[in-house]
Amino acid sequence: MDLKGKKVGIALTGSFCTYEKIFAELERLVEAGAEVFTIFSDASQRISSRFGKPEEFLAKAEEITGRKPILTIEQAEPIGPTGYLDALVIFPCTGNTCAKLANGITDTPVLMAAKAHLRNGKPLVISISTNDALGMNMKNIGLLLNAKHVFFVPFGQDAPVKKPNSLIAHTGRLIPTLEAALDGEQYQPILESF
Ligand SMILES: Cc1cc2nc3c(=O)[nH]c(=O)nc-3n(C[C@H](O)[C@H](O)[C@H](O)COP(=O)(O)O)c2cc1C
Repeated sequence: MDLKGKKVGIALTGSFCTYEKIFAELERLVEAGAEVFTIFSDASQRISSRFGKPEEFLAKAEEITGRKPILTIEQAEPIGPTGYLDALVIFPCTGNTCAKLANGITDTPVLMAAKAHLRNGKPLVISISTNDALGMNMKNIGLLLNAKHVFFVPFGQDAPVKKPNSLIAHTGRLIPTLEAALDGEQYQPILESF
C-alpha cells in the first residue's frame, strides 16, 4: 500500500548508534508523502552520548516532520481512542522496549503508543537493534514474531564474531516493510545478512 497520505508514527528508543540512519529514513518517509508523528522514549529524551544530544534529536525530528514530538504517556494515550495512526514503527527498538512490549509493560511514551495503537488492530512494526537479541531477548522477539498485527523490519547479525548475540534491522528496508504491513503482510525475507 502506497504511503502517500498515510499517518505513520515513528517511535524512537535508546539505540543511539542507529539514529543517523533513522533520521535519513524519516526524511524518505516524508518525501514519500507520509504524515509522520514522532514519539520519544524517556531514555531517548534524556541520554546524551557520543552519538549526540537529545535536544538535537528532538529538534531534528520536528524539523523533518513539521510536528512537535510526542514526549509523555499522556500525549501518546489518545492514539488509542482517536485511532489516528495508520501504522506505528518502533524505530529503533531497544532490547529493553522489546522485552517490555512482549510482556505487556506500558511505562514509557513509546510503549503507551504501541499499546494504544495495537488496541485498534493496526500494524505495529519493530526495527530491532540490540546486543542481546540472540541471548536474553530471543524469547521476547519470538513472542512478538508470533503476535497479531506485529511485523519486523528485516534483521541480521551485524557483528557475529565480536557481538555474537547482536541483531540489527536493515533500516533501509523501512518503506517496503511498512507498505507490506499496511496490507497485513510481513515483508520477506525477514532474515537478511549484512
Ligand atoms: C550510547 C548508548 C547506546 C545504546 N545503544 C543501545 C542499543 O543499540 N540497543 C539497546 O537495546 N540498548 C542500547 N542502549 C541502552 C538503552 O538506551 C537503555 O537500555 C535504555 O533503558 C532504553 O530505554 P528505552 O527502551 O525506553 O528507550 C544504549 C545506551 C547508550 C548510553
